[in-house]
Amino acid sequence: MESVEGARSFHASGEAYDLFMGRYSRPLAGVFADAAGILPGQRALDLGCGPGALTSELVARLGAEAVCAVDPSPEFVQDCAARNPGVDVRLGQAESIPFGDGEFDAALAQLVLHFVSDPPFAASEMRRVVRPGGTVAACVWDFAEEMRMLRLFWDAALTIDPSAPDEARTLRFSREGELSGLLSESGLSEVVETTLSVESSYSGFDELWAGFLQGIGPAGWFCLSLADDRRELLRTELFRRLGSPSGGFTLPAKARCATGRVP
Ligand SMILES: C[S@@+](CC[C@H](N)C(=O)[O-])C[C@H]1O[C@@H](n2cnc3c(N)ncnc32)[C@H](O)[C@@H]1O
Repeated sequence: MESVEGARSFHASGEAYDLFMGRYSRPLAGVFADAAGILPGQRALDLGCGPGALTSELVARLGAEAVCAVDPSPEFVQDCAARNPGVDVRLGQAESIPFGDGEFDAALAQLVLHFVSDPPFAASEMRRVVRPGGTVAACVWDFAEEMRMLRLFWDAALTIDPSAPDEARTLRFSREGELSGLLSESGLSEVVETTLSVESSYSGFDELWAGFLQGIGPAGWFCLSLADDRRELLRTELFRRLGSPSGGFTLPAKARCATGRVP
């Protein structure tokens, strides 16, 4: 599993993940499942499930017995299973999905395909496990502009280190047309790209900062890799860029979403 570069910064508990990203991926799961047309009676796969935000949404719509989930992080697999009793949660990765051909009506990857080592192969794997006429769906944050939490963080990080690994520069599929292009090139038909908007509210700056200190994903990894004095500079710059809030605030987040049908 350690050959999967993106999975290295996802060894964390579900609670830690929720402080940082789960607070966004939970509301995202509802609009993403709507975009994918998830309806009772279907059988669905949550690929790159993390601790299970989308898994829970699928369970609410389809029942636990109709939902399967896969992630390369053992910690997330454990937490996803604990949070979603009855779901078949397996350790695995997008490049080799541990399920047979045509087993699902839909395969969904929420905030995942930008982390996989071979996205075209991952898309072909998603297509493989879905029956003809079924749906493949994926979404990725709009890192360059409208995922405010990460945009503010990377803008602050670039101020203190111009070589900081801004996800808008280092990761794919956050720009218009990239995800739909990936799904079209994997042979899916009726490919549609949309945007999904959610938001998260914080009681204050310390709650936002605590999310980065969990060390999750590229932003958390970068934050913890800094020496204490540099991390304090980053904290100060992020606080300034947020407008030095004295109380609570809400940050919007937009994801790009693409869906396609298996011919
Ligand atoms: C930002 S999290 C999203 C988790 C969850 N889908 C959500 O929306 O909260 C990215 C997830 O992708 C998983 N991941 C990384 N590389 C992967 C791969 N090659 N195949 C499948 N999942 C992968 C990570 O372990 C992590 O759980």
